[in-house]
Amino acid sequence: MPTNPTRDELLEVLKSHILSPDFSRATFAGTRRGQATAWVRVVVRPVELRSLRYVQFAYQSAKKVVTRNCRPEEVDEPLEELLRIGFAAIHISTRVEEIDIRTSRKGRVHIGRHRLAEPRAANEASHNRVKNLPLPEGQADHLLEVMGIATADGRIRPTMRAKFTQINEFLKQLGHVLPETHLDRLDRPVEILDCGCGASYLTLAAHYYLNEKLGIPARVLGVDINEEVIRKSIERAEQLAADGLNFACRRIGTTDTPADIVFALHACDTATDDAIAHAVRSGAKLLLCVPCCHHHLHQALSRDVGEGVLRPLLRHGILLQRTADVVTDAFRALALRIMGYRTDVVEFVATEHTPRNVMIRAVRTTQPWSHPDALREYQHFKRFWQVTPYIETALGEEFQQWVGRGAG
Ligand SMILES: C[S@@+](CC[C@H](N)C(=O)[O-])C[C@H]1O[C@@H](n2cnc3c(N)ncnc32)[C@H](O)[C@@H]1O
Repeated sequence: MPTNPTRDELLEVLKSHILSPDFSRATFAGTRRGQATAWVRVVVRPVELRSLRYVQFAYQSAKKVVTRNCRPEEVDEPLEELLRIGFAAIHISTRVEEIDIRTSRKGRVHIGRHRLAEPRAANEASHNRVKNLPLPEGQADHLLEVMGIATADGRIRPTMRAKFTQINEFLKQLGHVLPETHLDRLDRPVEILDCGCGASYLTLAAHYYLNEKLGIPARVLGVDINEEVIRKSIERAEQLAADGLNFACRRIGTTDTPADIVFALHACDTATDDAIAHAVRSGAKLLLCVPCCHHHLHQALSRDVGEGVLRPLLRHGILLQRTADVVTDAFRALALRIMGYRTDVVEFVATEHTPRNVMIRAVRTTQPWSHPDALREYQHFKRFWQVTPYIETALGEEFQQWVGRGAG
């Protein structure tokens, strides 16, 4: 390494580290007063997009962060710009060493290096595991920090680990099913509606995953009935300066918002049904919903169904509640089949991360009412349980008339 290197020599030093397979992160900080830049810090890290290696530059000003992803052969220009700005401190971390490049007020450059006693644990296996996550730790640090999931130095907060895992597993489901929907090949941005978005973890993560990780242009709208969570979500979107990321305070299904994909992660009780009905009405190609707190059928299930055969099951509060949960979800899945969706019910994440871990995954494959078998099955199921699930109210009069024809 040259002593007091010229700018060209410094560029070569930076490139040799940044393009090496061991590179993990470089931070440029410490601008001097009067320097013409709004950036207070620039973080450079390797990222993988559509299976290709990129170098990401995250430019942080006091208010926002702007990211730019470059292919390895394109890094000269952004690195030259950083050297022109003249940050006083550059810190590079690789798997095997730490490098500090300090520039004094007089322009003298001092390079210090510290070789690690043992290479970092970022071995191939864990690197691949992290890399394969939609929202990887160590790559989406700023997003995770804004979401409140990670600390400023990129560590997942222990209390947020379960949410972090839920979101990653939810997005993995999205990634698996997307190719068959052809929504990854539209000649316009794909429209996603997140129903009951709450603190917007999924909303922000989905926007990042599609636009940044999969390279699929996507606009994401989060809606929630709670004004406070929407206010906070808008603040987060502003911090991220992300295009096509919007929030609205409203009840699910009260406007004709177009949607190619509808999400509902733990939207309370019948809000899940309203999200399903919105997906059906807007002709969404894909619906991913994870129901929670089913209350609607609990009171309605009669212990006498099936001529009393189920009495031993329905006598006990907890078993009654679980039965009402699965019956509610079975009605929802069947209603979606009637409405032209190929529907699966899957466990999307292990119970240790949330006990509410059943996902209804529905892809629109045909027109509504194309499956007379599904309609007959629904009518039969309804006659057995002697209940009217809220999904019928949510889907409206036409649905009620169709399923009502076989009632009695
Ligand atoms: C348990 S939180 C889940 C939030 C978020 N999806 C997540 O998983 O982190 C449920 C959210 O749904 C919202 N919600 C419930 N019913 C709603 C409705 N009918 N319309 C819009 N939002 C609703 C609540 O305000 C709450 O923020």
